[in-house]
Amino acid sequence: MRPIAIVVLLALVFASGRGYYFQTCSVARAFRQNRKASASFGQLAPSLLRLYSSSTSEVPAAKRSLDELIAETLAYEKDALTCLKSASNSREVELLRVAFLGKSGKIMGMMGEMRQLSKTDKPKLGEVVNLAKTNVETAVEEAKVAVFAQEISAQIQKDSLGNTIQISGREFTTPMGSRHPLSLVLELTTKIFEEIGYEAVAGPEDCPEIENDFFNFQALGMPPDHPARDMQDTFYINTSRLLTNDTLLLRTHTSAVQIREMEKRKPPFKIVVPGRVYRKDDVDATHYPVFHQCEILAIDEIGKLTVPHLLGTVKYFLQKMFGSDIEVKYRASYFPFTEPSIEVDVYFRGRWLEVLGCGMVDPVVLQSVGYDPTKYAGFAAGFGIERFAMIMHNIQDIRLFWENRLDFLQQFPSRAYGIPNDDVDERLADEGSRSLDDLFH
Ligand code: DAH
Repeated sequence: MRPIAIVVLLALVFASGRGYYFQTCSVARAFRQNRKASASFGQLAPSLLRLYSSSTSEVPAAKRSLDELIAETLAYEKDALTCLKSASNSREVELLRVAFLGKSGKIMGMMGEMRQLSKTDKPKLGEVVNLAKTNVETAVEEAKVAVFAQEISAQIQKDSLGNTIQISGREFTTPMGSRHPLSLVLELTTKIFEEIGYEAVAGPEDCPEIENDFFNFQALGMPPDHPARDMQDTFYINTSRLLTNDTLLLRTHTSAVQIREMEKRKPPFKIVVPGRVYRKDDVDATHYPVFHQCEILAIDEIGKLTVPHLLGTVKYFLQKMFGSDIEVKYRASYFPFTEPSIEVDVYFRGRWLEVLGCGMVDPVVLQSVGYDPTKYAGFAAGFGIERFAMIMHNIQDIRLFWENRLDFLQQFPSRAYGIPNDDVDERLADEGSRSLDDLFH
């Protein structure tokens, strides 16, 4: 390259650097002049951000006094803090960190200016620059935390609302999830009883699905060979390799938890037990070997809980589920663990439908758990969640609950159940899914 070309090139680089620097300073000055007018903050901050974050090279300015250099350092510090506050993502924060604290960043660049100062002035500027550096470093860390939190919550919201997930920087559309209708009905029933003082009992420790024959049958008045067992054939666990002589099985009803809880508790108490149960049924439109039940049990001193209390509780619950004008019918029945035993029907969509079984806890059962039947009495009820869900939503085939078809599952916004389930429900409802509101008031 010829010498003249080198001179021209250098001059150009210098000029562009100066121009850039003046531009930067003028914005900074404008900012300083305006900083009292808080309204202009919002407009200035982004432009400062743009200027600083696109900073490339810097050409040293003319010789300046200590005061001027200190003022400039402080101005950079202030600008850095303002820009960092307005940074809206981690990329911007990083650009700003480099622009101010990087090797050729504005604040670190002030270190280089010490050259032109006297021995006594050098440490004075050094002190100011170091303090500015520390302050900006702290602000960078704070900004990182702030934008990280923002970015994460934005992503979570996007994932749940907008059905998109990011994998390796690419966006994929996923089908939007929602709560399963059986979970919703189970939760709704539990909530209705909790509201009137029942304590929810759930989980594998208190309510194991692999149950002992004793809790599932014997303690509930069904010794081996009792005919009532026929209706509840189930899956038995092969215990030949286990260190137990107990007969283990997949529980056939949540009533087993009645015994477990009575053994643990002292009356009075009221519990509600939602859970999954099993029976060896062949699959058809109304049978499935896995299903859900909800059980209630209330025990108190004798005389405090009677049949009218049981019927009142059941009616209250059914009105909450089906609406206050629901017609309810009680029929005498038989369960080995209640006396008297009652079955309950509701008149819904033009038909009488059997919805639950209940009764006063049989004194023999009370005795078997160590309660004195002359002192204590109580009632119990149990019902199938699938049956409730099918009746409420006019679902004709129980298999639909297990097929994971989105067109079926997306019809159940939990908002309609009064169970808050965030914006997903809002969106489902907005998209015109079947309204269930009329079922619940
Ligand atoms: N466990 C019974 C079943 O699965 C239902 C039931 C009936 C539960 C009467 C009760 C009750 O608590 O009192 O068929």
